[in-house]
Amino acid sequence: MVQLEGVDILTGKQFNRGSLDQILDIADSMDKALRVDRSLQQLDGYVMASLFFEPSTRTRLSFETAMHRLGGAVVGFAEAGTSSVAKGESLNDTIRTVDQYVDVIVMRHPEIGSARQAAEVATAPVINGGDGAGQHPTQALLDLYTIQQECGHVDGTTIALCGDLKNGRTVHAGVELYRNYDCCLIFVAPEQLAMPPGVTQRLLERGVRVEQTAELEPALAQADVIYMTRIQKERFADPAEYERLKGSYVLNRDMVERINPDITIMHPLPRVKEISSDVDGLAGAAYFRQARNGVPVRMALLAMVLGQA
Ligand code: CP
Repeated sequence: MVQLEGVDILTGKQFNRGSLDQILDIADSMDKALRVDRSLQQLDGYVMASLFFEPSTRTRLSFETAMHRLGGAVVGFAEAGTSSVAKGESLNDTIRTVDQYVDVIVMRHPEIGSARQAAEVATAPVINGGDGAGQHPTQALLDLYTIQQECGHVDGTTIALCGDLKNGRTVHAGVELYRNYDCCLIFVAPEQLAMPPGVTQRLLERGVRVEQTAELEPALAQADVIYMTRIQKERFADPAEYERLKGSYVLNRDMVERINPDITIMHPLPRVKEISSDVDGLAGAAYFRQARNGVPVRMALLAMVLGQA
């Protein structure tokens, strides 16, 4: 049994195959329990802080839903402008204060490294809900769970990751999980938005099979899973560069039916235009099921870090 009690969840790099198997098993139990009971009581009496310094729909609402479904309570803010950050309070002082009130802190912040900084001053476990273009480990865990649910297994799959691989924190965290499995990874991106070379190099050194291409269609033909991502407008210093790159890839129904009708289609969401709405009705379009999986996976993590799994 891997112990996550009191552990900060900051990056995909901190997990090994044993801890991943355990998280997926507990998430699966939570998922099954939720289909019988709307509310479980493992975290009755516990309080979670939900601190979102950057916009979110899925991460914030699925964490809050997870805590409520476990019988716990939630405090926090969805916009830093409603907190004393607007008066100039530092991140460290905000975290030190919230740490006096709660048992676990979930946070999203635009700066890389902010969750680690928070974890250094908090006594409660800190869960990173996305730090700039850095990491988004809980999204990566729910993505892994979704692949297992949709494909029946993760080992042996070919996963194509397409779009803004430079700035996409979900893919930065995801590849750190996939390296624990017998997967083949295909990185599909224009040169300007390629996976950071250090990340690719580390995967190759660890024996992960990685291909890189700018062409979507050949990758679509080879893959079991296509993971589309948004070109991240908010991370571009030059708006003209964003305008040049924003339409780089659009997956539509004709492409899927013509090239690989059995493929599983994922996206962390929100999407802009990179998956046409005509894909939504395909059996393999898994992205809203993927969003739903955020609840049992985050229930599992909350119960584990609070020692109540
Ligand atoms: N996938 C994801 O992180 O979505 P939100 O930005 O809506 O939380």
